[in-house]
Amino acid sequence: MSELRLMELEGCGVEISGFDLTRHNAPDLESVKQAFADYGLVFFRDQKLSEQQHIQFAENFGKININRFFAAHPDYPQIALVSKDPDQTTNIGGGWHTDHSYDLEPALGSILVAREVPEQGGATCFANLYRAYESLSAGLKATLAGLSAVHSARHIFGSQGAHEQQDITDRVGNSAAADVLTDVIHPMVITHPLSGRKALYVNPAFTLHIAGWRVEESRALLDYLYTVVQQDENTTEFNWRPGSVAFWDNRATWHLAKNDYHGHKRLMHRITVEGCALTA
Ligand code: SIN
Repeated sequence: MSELRLMELEGCGVEISGFDLTRHNAPDLESVKQAFADYGLVFFRDQKLSEQQHIQFAENFGKININRFFAAHPDYPQIALVSKDPDQTTNIGGGWHTDHSYDLEPALGSILVAREVPEQGGATCFANLYRAYESLSAGLKATLAGLSAVHSARHIFGSQGAHEQQDITDRVGNSAAADVLTDVIHPMVITHPLSGRKALYVNPAFTLHIAGWRVEESRALLDYLYTVVQQDENTTEFNWRPGSVAFWDNRATWHLAKNDYHGHKRLMHRITVEGCALTA
């Protein structure tokens, strides 16, 4: 009999217990896939998985994306290192974002495994883009239905980008690849490819402006939407322990890594699974 249990979290996500990422039966894996589609964010605790087992688990969900910008694990290029040393000040992912919205086919999601975490601090916050959309008025929903937004990572990972100014260049790089990225356009509200539900699809890191609008014209509406997403009722904070795993859907959630553990090391292994083109 299956021991799989789901505990819905306030705001965003579900914690799954009774599931071993390294050894599971097919029906339990199907239940995890269904929970991922339903909630867009699943957490697991007390997992003991090697790098190879991390890769094997990720392959259940699609093709692995080899990250162009993050330092890779020395032996497993499929695993991006999300790390911060005690003397470093800037962390990776310290602002609200969703990964890969700058790609024509944004990544489905990422599976983050805690390898070394500070005793206190270093939590990751997640926000629920279904709930944020559902909370909008019918009038604003109707306006957004006709709009798309332009996304890029040049201003973040490019040679003139934010990361070049921070003590992060040993961990995030490849500005040459970022400099040649072309802008991409996605609907501001997508029909989620797994759940069929509507979700808001803009984010503060990679969304440049509303398509056909100037940056300054877009600002007020985007800022309003960003405020809505960050409301307490749409967010959750996940405190890591060694062996904790989070698997988030980039089309249904945002995340933000808190940078409140100066003087301590934090090392996470991230595998990103490729996604598909997004439609309204
Ligand atoms: C990220 O993938 O943006 C980093 C998340 C984290 O380190 O908690």
